[in-house]
Amino acid sequence: MGLGSLASRVIRPSASRLLNSHKNGFFLTRAVSSTPELHNADQSAAAQAQPEPTPDLSPRTPVGGARVHLPNPEDAIEVFVDGYPVKIPKGFTVLQACEVAGVDIPRFCYHSRLSIAGNCRMCLVEVEKSPKPVASCAMPALPGMKIKTDTPVAKKAREGVMEFLLMNHPLDCPICDQGGECDLQDQSMAFGSDRGRFTDMKRSVVDKNLGPLVKTVMTRCIQCTRCVRFATEVAGVQDLGMLGRGSGEEIGTYVEKLMTSELSGNVIDICPVGALTSKPFAFKARNWELKGTESIDVTDAVGSNIRIDSRGPEVMRIIPRLNEDINEEWISDKTRFCYDGLKRQRLNDPMIRDADGRFRAVSWADALSVVAEIVNQVKPEEIVGIAGQLSDAESMMALKDFLNRLGSNNVWCERNGSYADADLRSGYLMNTSISDLEKGDAFLLVGTQPRVEAAMVNARIRKTVRANHAKVGYIGPQADFNYDHQHLGTSPQTLVEIAEGCHPFSSVLLNAKNPVIIVGAGLFDRVDKDAIFSTVEAIANNAKVIRPDWNGFNVLLLSAAQAAALDLGLVPESVDSLQTSKFVYLMGADDVNLDKVPADAFVVYQGHHGDRGVYRANVILPASAFSEKEGTYENTEGCTQQTLPAVPTVGDARDDWKIIRALSEVVGTPLPYDSLAAIRSRIKTVAPNLLHVDEREPASFSPFLKPKSAQKISSDPFGTVVENFYMTDPITRASKIMAQCSALLSKK
Ligand code: SF4
Ligand code: FES
Repeated sequence: MGLGSLASRVIRPSASRLLNSHKNGFFLTRAVSSTPELHNADQSAAAQAQPEPTPDLSPRTPVGGARVHLPNPEDAIEVFVDGYPVKIPKGFTVLQACEVAGVDIPRFCYHSRLSIAGNCRMCLVEVEKSPKPVASCAMPALPGMKIKTDTPVAKKAREGVMEFLLMNHPLDCPICDQGGECDLQDQSMAFGSDRGRFTDMKRSVVDKNLGPLVKTVMTRCIQCTRCVRFATEVAGVQDLGMLGRGSGEEIGTYVEKLMTSELSGNVIDICPVGALTSKPFAFKARNWELKGTESIDVTDAVGSNIRIDSRGPEVMRIIPRLNEDINEEWISDKTRFCYDGLKRQRLNDPMIRDADGRFRAVSWADALSVVAEIVNQVKPEEIVGIAGQLSDAESMMALKDFLNRLGSNNVWCERNGSYADADLRSGYLMNTSISDLEKGDAFLLVGTQPRVEAAMVNARIRKTVRANHAKVGYIGPQADFNYDHQHLGTSPQTLVEIAEGCHPFSSVLLNAKNPVIIVGAGLFDRVDKDAIFSTVEAIANNAKVIRPDWNGFNVLLLSAAQAAALDLGLVPESVDSLQTSKFVYLMGADDVNLDKVPADAFVVYQGHHGDRGVYRANVILPASAFSEKEGTYENTEGCTQQTLPAVPTVGDARDDWKIIRALSEVVGTPLPYDSLAAIRSRIKTVAPNLLHVDEREPASFSPFLKPKSAQKISSDPFGTVVENFYMTDPITRASKIMAQCSALLSKK
């Protein structure tokens, strides 16, 4: 079977899917055609001798939403793409000029977020007065340049390149996991010839073991080096490289080792062929069988945009969605691969613990009436509610309202701790915003290790350090960074020295144009939290970190629920309420110190996984996971986003807010909302920003408004907040893939 007919068999059913793909939608702009006559020199010459077609000057839509900012029109140059004039900034490449002109140029090695390699030659175009076709990704556009993308010469050049690329590429599309979403398949259909002249044996390359996440079939590799550049430039690890030369050239790890990066899964997306694919997803499904649901990640406080691909009731994989302001087009390995945790250790039915200590499945009515009976017997001040780190705003609002109606004001979100302070939003948000971190030129990280706490924020800082040579100072325990930094100390005493100006890093902050301070939310649990924040505010004041045109004061939160919980005022009235409680309502809270709960307290655990909270629970109420419900989350920078249900709920589980609503009815204090719309109207009265979906609401007041704390700073060193990057919440702790990663990849 010829390549053309093989490719057409594989590709044609998925063409419509490609239109929605985040990858290049070539079928939109290109007709499938081949030019076998160009293999004949005479016919080729005749084709070239044809008169030039009249250019199509109708307005064009830039490819993939390519945007051009021309702050200074004098810096703009004009070039002509297929006769169509476009204005572009100086420094643009020919390929970028073509994109602005609405012409999609085929490419394999070029990636807009990586350095230019120029080694695949797929992007060849004709440029007037140039004797040969030029690689458009590596050629700077010059004023008046006349670029021709659709001439017989350009077509012939691409067909030639494609023929060479396919010389050694195996024709195993039917068993390749990339089939249906492969750049090589698509581009060979759109730009390749329907025949090839190479009949020699194809070379084969030994597969490499990169770890439990990335599967390699290195014979399929076309040596575009995207993966190598991604690893070195974005992930900040030197694990991958090009070995050998000529036909012996291959991608490898130099010495046998695994790829140890928290962003390693992104090489699967950027590999244009099936050389690097997802190991857990291998042979599980074809991409056209999957239903994609646009949602957001909840495994950290970043709120990375994701697409959940499901088949029937099962989540099959998670891949990133583009969001320039939050995660660009990357996601962390925890976000991408934790999905198998959604199927394991799930709570299916309401359960009551019997006298023998075993759980017994009961009906919802029985479970709720047992809880209602107990709750009506305890005093209001003995009731405590703790929201888990994956809770959505709707359920936290319902929990707070429910407990308030019972007379208790002791409700909080687990990572915010019992010293939580929700007075000023600027005191708990990333005020700079994730994307504006790129403008920073000096960073002071206080008790935070962004690489494990928020991998995508860390990727931004690394990008800034590479681009601006920004200086980074870090105060905290020894940690693994993937960019240059100075370890300034381990305790808050160093902060005091910086605030007093007697530390060398004070001058770095003073001399910076846009200084950034990032305080870790791990501090929320410290008794001297207010004193530390006062000292940080003093540093911010000295270094002019907050100005009308710049706010570099940030708190990096740890979990998806924290920001919304503080916006909704989930702050405990008494710091000792847990120790004196008689009724504890854990809404997915598994990371609270349950040793503090008195032995005679009645504990209700409402959640989706049989995790830590279940061991202490008297009653279990099964709830839906984030992939099964519509919920509102606010990320660490104050951007509100929503999850959408991708799969049905498991067993007899219900959405968190519905369970609390039903319980309030049984208890005799019914909450006044019965629908998602009604509960959102209630949220509007407390935190209207939580209704502005996909919008970032900056804090209105500066943290300086807070009175200075009279607390004394303790000399206790800062601790490590996230011990194991791969296992931080009930879903990731239930995941087999995350367990493998933590065994093989975690740096001990
Ligand atoms: S493995 Fe994939 S991304 Fe890496 S060089 Fe080969 S084809 Fe390119
Ligand atoms: S995309 Fe231009 S040489 Fe590879």
